[in-house]
Amino acid sequence: MKALTVGVTTIVMASLAARTMAADEIGAVLQNSFVAKNQATMDRLERDAVQTACSAPRGMPLDNDMLATLRAERLDAVVLPADGQYLGDWQRGAEVAGNGRGLQSSDDPTQPNGGNCYACHQLAPSEVAYGTLGPSLTGYGARGQSEAMLQYTWTKLWDTHAYNLCSHMPRFGAQGILTEQQLKDVMAYLLDPASPVNQATE
Ligand code: HEC
Repeated sequence: MKALTVGVTTIVMASLAARTMAADEIGAVLQNSFVAKNQATMDRLERDAVQTACSAPRGMPLDNDMLATLRAERLDAVVLPADGQYLGDWQRGAEVAGNGRGLQSSDDPTQPNGGNCYACHQLAPSEVAYGTLGPSLTGYGARGQSEAMLQYTWTKLWDTHAYNLCSHMPRFGAQGILTEQQLKDVMAYLLDPASPVNQATE
């Protein structure tokens, strides 16, 4: 039985080493095959501590304390709106949510970035084109506007890693993708009862 256990451990270790090597090789391929163009510079390929932890090869044991610390750091770094007002204008928020431009090499950096929310979420039920990587946010306003709800939603938009360390959603505030005003407008788009997000389809 002991020999079998040692044998299994050896196989697991060997396959982890192979996967770690493969991850390094993939990193090298990316470095060699990308070229900087306009605002899309090579530093885009550098991973921060969260991305490094979340990109660990499958099966690699991760230190839970380290993950909890990383998440707590992200939560501590969230900047709430300076004036305590979370809600802007849902009409402007609709534009931000539907705009998929920004940060790509072909985009004009003098134009405001979009949030591209529809790439991953259903929002207004009248909009037929949406992605399904994230959950549907239709009817989100039914959750109300308590302080807890406002803070939760703001934090999720500011830095999704503060709640879900390896979330696939962009870190709109923490990465400077959206401005504070744009975030407020998107908040209103989600939470204002008058927003199309909160209108039932006929
Ligand atoms: C690349 C895909 C992606 C984009 C773009 C994206 N999200 Fe998400 N979002 C997700 C995923 C995946 C989840 C669920 C998993 C998680 O919590 O990270 C999520 C979760 C959420 C949640 C929490 C849902 C809940 O039930 O509490 C909210 C709110 C949200 N997104 C709003 C937005 C808004 C607003 C935008 C645009 C400004 C946006 N997202 C853009 C992928 C995305």
